[in-house]
Amino acid sequence: MNIVNSSENSSPRLIYDLSYLQDDEALKDSALIVFNSQRENHNDFLKNNFHEDKNALDKVSEESLHSALNETTKVSDIVQDRKLSNCIAYNFDNVKDAIISEKLKYLREKVDEIAKLRIQEFFKLEGHFDFENTGHFWYPPNGYMGWHTNNRNPGWRFYISYVDKPGKSFFRYRDPISKEIITSYDKQWNFRLFKVSLDKSLWHAVYSDTHRFSIGYTIKFDE
Ligand SMILES: [Fe+2]
Repeated sequence: MNIVNSSENSSPRLIYDLSYLQDDEALKDSALIVFNSQRENHNDFLKNNFHEDKNALDKVSEESLHSALNETTKVSDIVQDRKLSNCIAYNFDNVKDAIISEKLKYLREKVDEIAKLRIQEFFKLEGHFDFENTGHFWYPPNGYMGWHTNNRNPGWRFYISYVDKPGKSFFRYRDPISKEIITSYDKQWNFRLFKVSLDKSLWHAVYSDTHRFSIGYTIKFDE
């Protein structure tokens, strides 16, 4: 299938803001149950294990991107380099300090189910496609995830995020075509879809000065 810009430029679009999902009560309600459970059950973990970083904004700055671009080893993700982020990570077997929670995984399954349907509708997919949870994070104030590509696992990403205070956190990325750096400030609910592609690396980063909760998926299908 072809997904193209409505503009004269016919290069495929690599990033979408599915803001119409802000009216999707079923999706939001199921995600909120997960996020509220994190708050209720992992507050002690937050107090004891989260290390806020006063330099978080520097870690996601344009200068930091230029440093990352000059490194011989380009950072893909937090599994490869845990120091990429100080966020609280959930249900990653290969991240040493991740919280492994069957309860949270169980609660998240409802989100998975609805999110998969919404993505299927968006891309008008028929038949089988891969849809896997590959991100579940809590960014407390002064939380960040530095510049990275996710190139070890190409495919579309769909991220649902919720923040306590809109406008105090953001998703920042470098447009893979124009190389322009775009800062996309968070609304209370955010539904971002973007493509991780080896030939057009989408460098991106996250910063938060509020409590920010996110669940992300990797989607693969024949295009
Ligand atoms: Fe990422």
